[in-house]
Amino acid sequence: MKIAITGANGFVGSTLLSSLQANDFKPIALVRRSFYAQGVAVREIDYFNPQQLSAALADVDVVIHNAGMTKSLSHTEMYAANIGLTQKIVSTINHIDHPIRLIYMSSQAASGPSTADLPRKESDPFEPISIYGKSKALAEKVIHEQCLQAYNIVRPCSIYGPQDRDFLQLFKLCKRGLSMQIGKEERLMNMIHVSQLADFIQHLILKNDVNKETFFASDNQIYTQAQVVQYISQAMATQNRQIIVPQALAHGAFALSDLWGRIIRRPLVTNLEKYKEITAEAWLVDSSKAQELLSWNPAPQMPELIKETYQWYISNGWL
Ligand SMILES: NC(=O)c1ccc[n+]([C@@H]2O[C@H](COP(=O)([O-])OP(=O)(O)OC[C@H]3O[C@@H](n4cnc5c(N)ncnc54)[C@H](OP(=O)(O)O)[C@@H]3O)[C@@H](O)[C@H]2O)c1
Repeated sequence: MKIAITGANGFVGSTLLSSLQANDFKPIALVRRSFYAQGVAVREIDYFNPQQLSAALADVDVVIHNAGMTKSLSHTEMYAANIGLTQKIVSTINHIDHPIRLIYMSSQAASGPSTADLPRKESDPFEPISIYGKSKALAEKVIHEQCLQAYNIVRPCSIYGPQDRDFLQLFKLCKRGLSMQIGKEERLMNMIHVSQLADFIQHLILKNDVNKETFFASDNQIYTQAQVVQYISQAMATQNRQIIVPQALAHGAFALSDLWGRIIRRPLVTNLEKYKEITAEAWLVDSSKAQELLSWNPAPQMPELIKETYQWYISNGWL
C-alpha cells in the first residue's frame, strides 16, 4: 500500500514516516524542501502547483495530510496553510480516477476545550478558542463538504516525544529545577506520545471499512501538568520547586513574549493564542469511539516514554 505523507519532515510527519516504514508500508514523503530519509521515496513539491500535486498523488492509495501550521504571526498565513492547503489536497484527490483514502491530521484544538467533568465527544459542535483551532475546524469542514473520496479525520491531543519543541520548554524549566503552573487550579488534559499517534494512524489505515469518521487520538489517560512534571523530574532525577504564577502575571508575560516574537519575526511557543489554550478549564476527550471502532487501547506508558524523550533530547543536544 502506497501511503503519501504531507509535511513528512516535521515532528509528527517524520515519526509517521519511520513507523510506517518499520511496519512494511511504503511511505512516500511529500515535502516542500530538500529532505532525506533512508530507504524512503521523497517527493519535493510546491503544494500550490496543481500539476505537481496531482503527479505526486497520482499513484498513492492513502494520503495522510499532516502538513500544517501550529503557530504563526499572521492569521492569513495560518488560514492559507491549514485551510488553503487542505482545499488543494481535496480538489486534487477528487480528480484522481482511482480510490484514494484521505486521512487528515486535525487537532483537539478544532473541537475546543472541555470542562473538568465532561470530556468532549467527536460529535460535539466546533468550539475552538484559538485561531489555530478555528483554522483546523474550517479545514475539517472543507473535507466534509468537498471530499468525494473516502476520508477520516484524526484530532490528536497534545503530542509529545522526540523532536517536539513545545514540551521541550517544560523539560528545560525542569532541568533548572523549576516548574510553573498558571493559577492555583490543576487543569486536566489528555495527551499522546508521537509513536502512539503513529500506531493510532496504522490502526485506522488497517480499518478499510471506516469512512467519514472523526476520532480524537489520545493515550486514553488523564493527566495534570504537575503529573507530567513529576514524570520529567523522575526521568532527570531532579527535584523541582513549583512556582504558582498568578493568572494576570502570566498573561502579561505571554503578552510580552508574543510581542517579542513579532519583533524578531518568529512565532514563539509562549504567545497570546497559546495562553488562551493553556488557561482553558480542561482539555479532555471521550476516547470511547476510537476504542470501539479502531480497538485503540494503548498501554499506559507515560513515565517510560517521557524518559525516552528526555534521553533523545540529551543525545541530540537539545537539552
Ligand atoms: N504538535 C502537536 O502537539 C499537534 C497536536 C495536534 C495536531 N497537530 C497537527 O499535526 C500536524 C503536524 O504538526 P507538527 O507538530 O509535526 O508540526 P511541525 O513539526 O511544525 O511540522 C509541520 C509540517 O508541515 C509543513 N508545513 C507547514 N506549513 C506548510 C505550508 N504552508 N505548506 C506546506 N507545508 C507546510 C512543514 O513543512 P516545512 O518543514 O517545509 O515548514 C512541516 O513539514 C499539523 O497538522 C498539526 O496541526 C500537532
